[in-house]
Amino acid sequence: MGYQSNGSAAAVKFLIYGRTGWIGGELGRLCEAQGIEYAYGAGRLESRSSLESDVEAARPTHVFNAAGVTGRPNVDWCESHKVETIRTNVIGTLTLADVCRERGLILINYATGCIFEYDEEHPLGSGVGFKEEDQPNFVGSFYSKTKAMVEDLLKNFENVCTLRVRMPISSDLANPRNFITKITRYEKVVDIPNSMTILDELLPISLEMAKRNLTGIWNFTNPGVVSHNEILQMYKDYIDPYFTWKNFTLEEQAKVIVAPRSNNELDATKLKREFPELLSIKESLIKYVFKPNQKTSVA
Ligand SMILES: NC(=O)c1ccc[n+]([C@@H]2O[C@H](COP(=O)([O-])OP(=O)(O)OC[C@H]3O[C@@H](n4cnc5c(N)ncnc54)[C@H](OP(=O)(O)O)[C@@H]3O)[C@@H](O)[C@H]2O)c1
Repeated sequence: MGYQSNGSAAAVKFLIYGRTGWIGGELGRLCEAQGIEYAYGAGRLESRSSLESDVEAARPTHVFNAAGVTGRPNVDWCESHKVETIRTNVIGTLTLADVCRERGLILINYATGCIFEYDEEHPLGSGVGFKEEDQPNFVGSFYSKTKAMVEDLLKNFENVCTLRVRMPISSDLANPRNFITKITRYEKVVDIPNSMTILDELLPISLEMAKRNLTGIWNFTNPGVVSHNEILQMYKDYIDPYFTWKNFTLEEQAKVIVAPRSNNELDATKLKREFPELLSIKESLIKYVFKPNQKTSVA
């Protein structure tokens, strides 16, 4: 089974899972805007026959998985719904990968980079990020634990492109899922540098990755890190000069959440090598999020 490059002129058709979700919805809008033929999958990930029917009906060249259980209001939900989390994120994701593999189809899988935490070899502030081949070291939440297990198993599927998304941000500041919107609404926030994913810049790149038939694991974040306070200061500079916020420590944060959260830097060198135009996280925040939403004159 080969996955040679399609070349940019070749016709593609994308089958996308996650129609009602944030990333899945954005992918459909992007395909519309770029004139790419696409269809949404109607099947549930854990139902193999429903996925087979979708592929049969759509006859795609590539499949995108933006379906998954992320928990509402947040991943703490997964702590009390372990079987439901396994059903979609483990059984479902593996089933879709296997259905695609049987048909020689590449699966672009929106996974997570929240499977690492700063450690002695990758200390906070060092600029040494986790690489694609590093073993996950964060299993503090059930969500992350299952995502790490699935990433490891998916390494055996040569047709899968695993994109490690982190703390997704978009230019839609009204979206409550947007990391910026979340932290501007919290009563108190921690202040830790992290790798993050600017969807406006990176989702189009993921479509291009499919066209190039790229597979394997990719740290799918903008290069570098940005801290909560740095983002909130940009928000104050560009959007609301009267905005204020309060910080608290990780220990204080632990009292208001159920499961620990991961903080890390991912090394984006591999993605940058493939897409040299990729902006650093701070440049991307300004270009794709803050400038288009700018309300102040001073910034
Ligand atoms: N948002 C984040 O902070 C974040 C961060 C890193 C990685 N990711 C990953 O990126 C992926 C997409 O995230 P998102 O934020 O776009 O998620 P989302 O907004 O919560 O949407 C999830 C989508 O998955 C669908 N879905 C759930 N269970 C399903 C199943 N068993 N079969 C078929 N569809 C199912 C949902 O459809 P229904 O409503 O019909 O169930 C919905 O369309 C997830 O795997 C997530 O883990 C997200």
